[in-house]
Amino acid sequence: AGPETVSPTGQATGAAPARVAQSGAYLTTAQGARLHDTDHSLKAGARGPVLLQDHHLREKITHFDHERIPERVVHARGAAAHGVFRGYGTAAEVCKAAFLAKDVETPVFVRFSTVLGSRGSSDTVRDTRGFATKFYTDEGTFDLVGNNIPVFFIQDAVKFPDIIHAGKPHPDREIPQAQSAHDTFWDFVSLHTEATHHTLWNMSDRGIPRSYRMMEGFGVHTFRLVNGAGETSLVKFHWKPKLGVHSLVWEEAQLINGMDPDFHRRDLCDAIEAGAFPQWELGIQVFPDTPDQTFEGIDLLDPTKIVPEERAPVQPIGLMTLNANVTNFFAETEQVAFHPGHLVPGIDVTDDPLLAGRLFSYLDTQISRLGGPNFAQIPVNRPQAPVNDMFRDGMHQTAVHTGVAPYRPNSLDGGCPFTAGADTGAYVETPVRVSEARKVREAPASFEDHFTQPRLFWLSMTPTEREHIIAAYTFELGKCYEQAVKERALGVLANIDPVLCEQVAAGLGLPAPEPTVPLADVEASPALSQLGAAWPTD
Ligand code: HEM
Repeated sequence: AGPETVSPTGQATGAAPARVAQSGAYLTTAQGARLHDTDHSLKAGARGPVLLQDHHLREKITHFDHERIPERVVHARGAAAHGVFRGYGTAAEVCKAAFLAKDVETPVFVRFSTVLGSRGSSDTVRDTRGFATKFYTDEGTFDLVGNNIPVFFIQDAVKFPDIIHAGKPHPDREIPQAQSAHDTFWDFVSLHTEATHHTLWNMSDRGIPRSYRMMEGFGVHTFRLVNGAGETSLVKFHWKPKLGVHSLVWEEAQLINGMDPDFHRRDLCDAIEAGAFPQWELGIQVFPDTPDQTFEGIDLLDPTKIVPEERAPVQPIGLMTLNANVTNFFAETEQVAFHPGHLVPGIDVTDDPLLAGRLFSYLDTQISRLGGPNFAQIPVNRPQAPVNDMFRDGMHQTAVHTGVAPYRPNSLDGGCPFTAGADTGAYVETPVRVSEARKVREAPASFEDHFTQPRLFWLSMTPTEREHIIAAYTFELGKCYEQAVKERALGVLANIDPVLCEQVAAGLGLPAPEPTVPLADVEASPALSQLGAAWPTD
């Protein structure tokens, strides 16, 4: 790369072009002074004491001392790649976002991750996988920060620190749940039964994917789309892998963890290097934007619920191809900062209370993880649309802003920057009515059903998939020390299905409890059992 003439935020940088790393033929200090020796400290005699005045020694070690940044508080371990998204134009009826128009190509950066393990943990653990996509669109950056499981553990973000504390390594021994006591995780999910649906997906083969290339992705929350006429729809986003959905079996997962803890990371970069570019189709389930924000009785604001695909088919709207590995893991995979609030015109959020907390959390955590408020200037985070904000200064500011009046309107810098009209601007919220409410700390009654959809999922599984689920619960609950936790967890299973409960209870050597709620009257959903299935457009 040559010297830059504009700053990362698109502003003129002034006289001095930005310094580019690794230019020139000589090894230098950080100040560009050529070095003649980087292998010996400055000493008083060859066997004498090292001198404090050795700037090169101090600079080199100081920089090294500060090489690490905090790992992400969740999703610390990940692997990423660059690619391109091509719109089919099929979303035009519901969404005006320009990147979805026919044959528009948009660069993307995707980071896959596990949730609970630290940066150095193994890839093939039983866990949810993150599937976060950054679309560098001409209208600004859009981030779709999803998972490979379509539902979440909790319905309200205020519980997020609690579920994560329950799932992370125990504070006394710092041994990950996957290898030691499981008591806190199972304690939490049996006391907060809204977690039942997500936990069941984790205990299914979906919890141990074969490859990042063979996973579905889900936006989980319901989003609101706006079309060119200003009409709105509610949608759920889905990524469907062209290679189909495939999982490991538990014995494979454990062996691979021992033999190649980087299995998924290696698989992704090897495939891309070999030219076997992984592809996903982006699809949407579309629901009418009715005042109650439900679809056929399903509360669309409840992130523990899906809408079965038979009832609202996933409509393909574009194709993503990952075609380039990262050049530098730290610069790109580690420093990338996704945010569910990075939206473009045509895409809006809903009142899902889990999403509301996320809209606060990501920017907040990134300010400490990436050292201040200017991380949008880091190359992987830079928008590929022009940026002209009124943000100034702060730690790690690399732009040299011009002008004297970073406010608007002003009469000194030509009154700029202009704001876009409501028809082209982002963050033009749909005027949904919210004002008649009382302030309360409570969940709606529609959030109370925690067992119907887990039962739907269980009934949709093939006999082999059911065997795997039973084995997974038996293995994981078998790691709990507390009898009361195991018994309570069996009580949850009794409310899903008697066979599931009895077989896990037998494996644990415990009696199977009776259900405490009537078993839900639901039919299996064929689309839920789709391991091995390729996306139907193939
Ligand atoms: C990170 C997904 C819920 C807080 C992530 C990442 C993904 C993700 C994919 C990794 C991003 C990356 O690769 O850099 C989800 C999904 C959720 C969910 C799908 C629910 C549907 C929440 C909630 C909170 C939260 C409720 C907090 C209230 C965080 C934080 C990070 C994170 C703090 C680390 C971000 C960073 O350090 O850059 N999440 N998450 N998440 N998530 Fe979530």
